[in-house]
Amino acid sequence: MPAQPIQDATNEQIKHESDSAYLYLSMSAYCESNTLPGFARWLTVQAREEIEHAMKFYTFIHDRNGRVQLKALDQPPVDFPSTLSVFEQAAAHERKVTGLIHRLYALALDEQDYASQAFLQWFISEQVEEEKLTGQVVETLKMAGDSRHALLMLDRELGAREGEE
Ligand code: FEO
Repeated sequence: MPAQPIQDATNEQIKHESDSAYLYLSMSAYCESNTLPGFARWLTVQAREEIEHAMKFYTFIHDRNGRVQLKALDQPPVDFPSTLSVFEQAAAHERKVTGLIHRLYALALDEQDYASQAFLQWFISEQVEEEKLTGQVVETLKMAGDSRHALLMLDRELGAREGEE
């Protein structure tokens, strides 16, 4: 069984990953409503990945004979000023999640919890990828500027993202 501070922080991380899924799904709904099905698909695939992240923490607690406690989720924004703003907020959100994972890892070091340290390694690497992916979309959208044509090209490109919607 994990030490109580580790169990509490891991339960909090289930909430943060679930909040991420809810945020990306709301962003996807905004894009869908603005006739950008490729952006919408990309974000729905992302939302599903976040559920998988939440489930990794969920399973890890049970694997160690701990107790899962689910928390209330945050209300995500419904509307966004622009597609660029969606991805700027997504990139900022990923930076925040990276900080939360690092804090959890620091706690695992303090508690000499070697199992959590090993488990969290995957998330530390994953966050590098998550920040890179969202940051790339931000930069490409900035280059597209006000060009509707470039936006539609990018919509087609992002719609080709592999993964389950
Ligand atoms: Fe699960 Fe995008 O962090």
